[in-house]
Amino acid sequence: MIKIAVLVSGSGSNLQALMDANLSGQIVGVISNKPDAYALERAAKANIPTAIIEHKQYPNREAFDDVMHQQLLAWDVDLVVLAGFMRILSAKFVNAWQGKMVNIHPSLLPHYKGMHTHQRVLNTGDTLHGCTVHYVTAELDAGQALTQGVLKVNLHDCVETLATRVHVLEHLIYPQAVEWICNGTIQHTQDGTVLYKGQALTAPIQFCKL
Ligand code: GRF
Repeated sequence: MIKIAVLVSGSGSNLQALMDANLSGQIVGVISNKPDAYALERAAKANIPTAIIEHKQYPNREAFDDVMHQQLLAWDVDLVVLAGFMRILSAKFVNAWQGKMVNIHPSLLPHYKGMHTHQRVLNTGDTLHGCTVHYVTAELDAGQALTQGVLKVNLHDCVETLATRVHVLEHLIYPQAVEWICNGTIQHTQDGTVLYKGQALTAPIQFCKL
């Protein structure tokens, strides 16, 4: 059984969706860099071990990442799931978990990497928006996309409504992508190729809520 660690910084609604999903893998631990993250309460309620590793207590990014790495090794983790984890990770850490770490981002990557995605979608006047589950590589929000949730931007949408609507999609597509990794439907091969049902994945699997 695949052992999963979830890294969080905030509310943890994606963590909740993963815990509720009856995954064939096991969430063996939750790490937060913020001691007051509500996600920690959610994990505790589900009797999942937690670790608070405060980035402020370490002299640099590498030192902080190293402590997280040791905790992940102690839990014997196979898959790292970033769920609202608001720290940029060092190249050393990312390389150590290459092909074993996924993230969810609130945009249809490769569009709108980085922050304030909903506002940027509205500013541009895009008609489609959504979220993407992708493998994590050293370049921000640039690893191979696995799944996407797509929605139509309505005339009356604002940042808040888009954030809510995208979150609903996130809670659908993240557990699905993680389950596909747990049960081998998605595989990351030694040479970096991502397979979906044994075939090279050339575009993310899309779920639409138009
Ligand atoms: C989500 O919008 C996700 O796309 C982004 O951070 C947010 C986390 O929300 N990476 P939550 O803490 O899971 O509620």
